[in-house]
Amino acid sequence: MRPRTAVIPVAGLGTRFLPATKAMPKEMLTVVDKPLIQYAVEEALAAGIERIIFVTGRGKEMLADHFDYVPELEGALRDRKREGMLQQIRALVPTPGCLLFTRQNEPLGLGHAVWCARHLVGNVPFAVLLPDDLVWPGAGEPPVMQQMCDQFEQLQQSMVAIMTVAQKETDKYGILDPAEQAGGTDRLVRAKGLVEKPAPHNAPSRLAIIGRYILAPEIFDLLGQKKTGAGGEVQLTDAMALLMRQHPIYGFRFQGTRFDCGDKVGFQMANLALAMEQKEMRERLLPFLGEQLAFWTAENKGT
Ligand code: G1P
Repeated sequence: MRPRTAVIPVAGLGTRFLPATKAMPKEMLTVVDKPLIQYAVEEALAAGIERIIFVTGRGKEMLADHFDYVPELEGALRDRKREGMLQQIRALVPTPGCLLFTRQNEPLGLGHAVWCARHLVGNVPFAVLLPDDLVWPGAGEPPVMQQMCDQFEQLQQSMVAIMTVAQKETDKYGILDPAEQAGGTDRLVRAKGLVEKPAPHNAPSRLAIIGRYILAPEIFDLLGQKKTGAGGEVQLTDAMALLMRQHPIYGFRFQGTRFDCGDKVGFQMANLALAMEQKEMRERLLPFLGEQLAFWTAENKGT
């Protein structure tokens, strides 16, 4: 069995990107030519997900509009014979009824956002994708959620994407405490604990949770207890730590590069790296980057 449902929490205020996100959802920030939300939705669909639940908040209507038809725009593109772009715009609209919406009425944390989707998910394993984490797959690799769903088909256990981070960065992530015997393939690490944002000196490892999860539905009861953790919020990581008493949880070392698009520098890196993937852009960007490098490394600059 593969997960057929995904939850995408999109209620966050995006304060780190103000003023850009004052009137616009942070998930509409574009990396090259697509908004972050589109990368997440396309990744979910590529993995075979059939139902996508957006957990939204006030002011996020634009996200629903992005995946809907825009007749006047389509008419204009047709008149101008821009068939290619017309196809791209139309391909953005998922099969009717596949996108579902619910609201997180209070900003109580990621765990609470996921819990808000419980009635729409039902009693089945489901995926969670955090659109701030843009994960670009390695060359020849499928998108990360597809890698995870393929693995889930064999394992049938909850799992989270993980990557190794610097010791000083553990307080930005959920951190996995690996069991001595990892078991399975070397891409899977069985967890014996999970901690949200531990201080570097307390972190059980450097294995950080990245925003891709496949979870057993029993997590909803645990989230429903609404226990607050790090930052005074209901943390998904804490509920997973409790879920581990009932079911094993695995860390999944994905193939690909993760960009933290919730951070201004990570966001710029994503733009650069993905622009470089396109030949026409690369040819124009490389000389420019060379000039920038020379300019900023010149002796009299660098401050
Ligand atoms: C969330 C999760 C954290 C995870 C991170 C990945 O934190 O709570 O466990 O490591 O996403 O990006 P946030 O970045 O929302 O603070």
